[in-house]
Amino acid sequence: MSEGLLSQLDHLNEQQLRRLLVEHLTKQKLGLYWESNAIERDAALNANLVLPRLVREWSYRPQEMDEDAIHRNLIIEGDNFDSLRLLKATHAGKIRVIYIDPPYNTGNRDWVYNDHYVGANDRWRHSQWLEFLYRRLTLARDLLTPDGVILVSINDENRARLELLMDEVFPGMRVGSFVWRSRTGGNDTKGAFHSTNHEHVLVYANEGFRFSGDEKSYSMYKFQEGDRIYRLSDLTSPKDLRERPNTYYPIYDPTTQIYYPCNPQRVWAYASKGRMKDGQKIRGDTIEDFIEKKLIWFPHSQRIEVFATKEKLLDAIKRKDVPMSGNTPLLYEDMPEIDFWIGRKIGYGRPAFKRFKEGLKNENQPISSWLTPKQEEETAIDGMNMPVVGTTEEGSKAIKDLMDDKAFPYPKPPSLLKALLSQSTRPTDIILDFFAGSGTTGQAVLELNAEDNGSRRFIMCSSTEANSKEPEKNLCRDVCAERMRRVIQGYGGRPGYTPEQGGEFAYLQLDKVNAADAHFEIDAAHAFQLLALKRFGVVCTATEGAVQRLGRVEDCEVLVCHEVNAKTIAALAAWPQQSGAARLAIYTMRPETLREQLALRGMEANCYSLMDALMRGQGGIA
Ligand SMILES: C[S@@+](CC[C@H](N)C(=O)[O-])C[C@H]1O[C@@H](n2cnc3c(N)ncnc32)[C@H](O)[C@@H]1O
Repeated sequence: MSEGLLSQLDHLNEQQLRRLLVEHLTKQKLGLYWESNAIERDAALNANLVLPRLVREWSYRPQEMDEDAIHRNLIIEGDNFDSLRLLKATHAGKIRVIYIDPPYNTGNRDWVYNDHYVGANDRWRHSQWLEFLYRRLTLARDLLTPDGVILVSINDENRARLELLMDEVFPGMRVGSFVWRSRTGGNDTKGAFHSTNHEHVLVYANEGFRFSGDEKSYSMYKFQEGDRIYRLSDLTSPKDLRERPNTYYPIYDPTTQIYYPCNPQRVWAYASKGRMKDGQKIRGDTIEDFIEKKLIWFPHSQRIEVFATKEKLLDAIKRKDVPMSGNTPLLYEDMPEIDFWIGRKIGYGRPAFKRFKEGLKNENQPISSWLTPKQEEETAIDGMNMPVVGTTEEGSKAIKDLMDDKAFPYPKPPSLLKALLSQSTRPTDIILDFFAGSGTTGQAVLELNAEDNGSRRFIMCSSTEANSKEPEKNLCRDVCAERMRRVIQGYGGRPGYTPEQGGEFAYLQLDKVNAADAHFEIDAAHAFQLLALKRFGVVCTATEGAVQRLGRVEDCEVLVCHEVNAKTIAALAAWPQQSGAARLAIYTMRPETLREQLALRGMEANCYSLMDALMRGQGGIA
């Protein structure tokens, strides 16, 4: 790393060197440091343009889908740095949920940096891993919607490093983390632990993000007041008279002048003005405040007694003919201030708190230990919406069932992805996984769509994993896309998925073009797909001819015109009438000429520079 850096410095002029030195000397911060090369980083970002190429034979569309129907789901083959650069140009601010399961930097040659596997003894192993992820996460950050979230799986060993990196890339966006039981046993002889059985899922989100929570059961909200419904909840606390003498008092209903005695085993949960010392302040409301706000419910029909004398009261106490809470009598011989109850109206029912439904927050947000291992199913806290998820073993089995052999090491279990996505996605979201591996995320998206009638879309980026030993290897095509194909078609007696449920995908490869050569190297198919993705977020089979239709926005047809000549001008002039559109938006290499030519035919059209549209968002162009 340092030799390469030195040779790069040779090419900088004095002013550039001074700037770098000042930056270096003044950059002091708290946090994570790793060896990186800012020059190389910037250069990599702007190196060239990334253009999508649709590979129809590796894409999937069910037979009933039209030949030229559009694809909403994408599998993108290649280094995800390039895929993310493409997505930055096409999907900035459009992705609601990103899930990734990056290589964990285990030292087991599980990831590639600058075309070589990084092993345990690599001197720069941690820095290279951090820099590798930094470059990808900074690109991914710009893809999130204002209420978007990114969830990242990581093992225990690398969690601290990754979390500090995430803090750097997503400042102020940390939500928390989930713990996932990744295996049931194991025997790590390396350290003092018998086995490290858990992993983490780090959660960082933009401000507007909320987990879906769980639809609360409203069956208890049986009472009505006007058009508001409420349920009754207990007014007592689990403290007894000795522990909380101040909240042992009779509750008085001023409307009926009825008094309700307190349970000595469970005193009231709220303070009373009558029991507060002079000048004493409390946090929150007193019982009298709640009564005034009409938040306390008093029984409508109940037994009411007035004991005219103490003898009559004591006699009732002896017969246990007094208000009760379960088996506990609320009036008893040695109770404090027993004489208070003589001559007063005593209610035999119990008051309660009115909890109105509209006062509820989005209930049942997940708790951080919410992912419940299958073998501990019975420990799931009732009513806490705790999904039961499998271990890596389930992930391996899922792949084995689908691909007939161990096509991929350590995939995540679909149940984990489903649990995470069911809490973080809404039914119409786009979900991105740019370390898709075997495609577990895509499978989970389809399963969720089928469960809640959703139309979530997936974008999965996967490398080929080709290397000098296996130059023909194509993990993206042969595992990720193949798995999705089998899942969509239905396997092992399971039903498949319709296109509406996400049962289709476009397989894209990426071509890289030097920005200086863009005019010669970008062909019509590149331009068409890139614009379709940018404008409509979809891939479609390009129509033949020099004028291609991208789609429609309200009453406006969006077109690409590759050649400006008499034939295309005639075709464009006839377009509004043929399509029933009121307006045209046309991308072309010669927008001025086309505008003039159409004006000569009395037609106004919005003509845009095709080259500007293709370059925008790439090659450092904002
Ligand atoms: C831990 S696996 C992800 C497994 C996945 N969650 C699953 O369930 O199948 C990480 C994946 O990232 C891929 N990968 C590593 N570097 C990559 C890169 N630069 N671009 C794209 N994928 C990459 C590896 O090929 C590997 O398949």
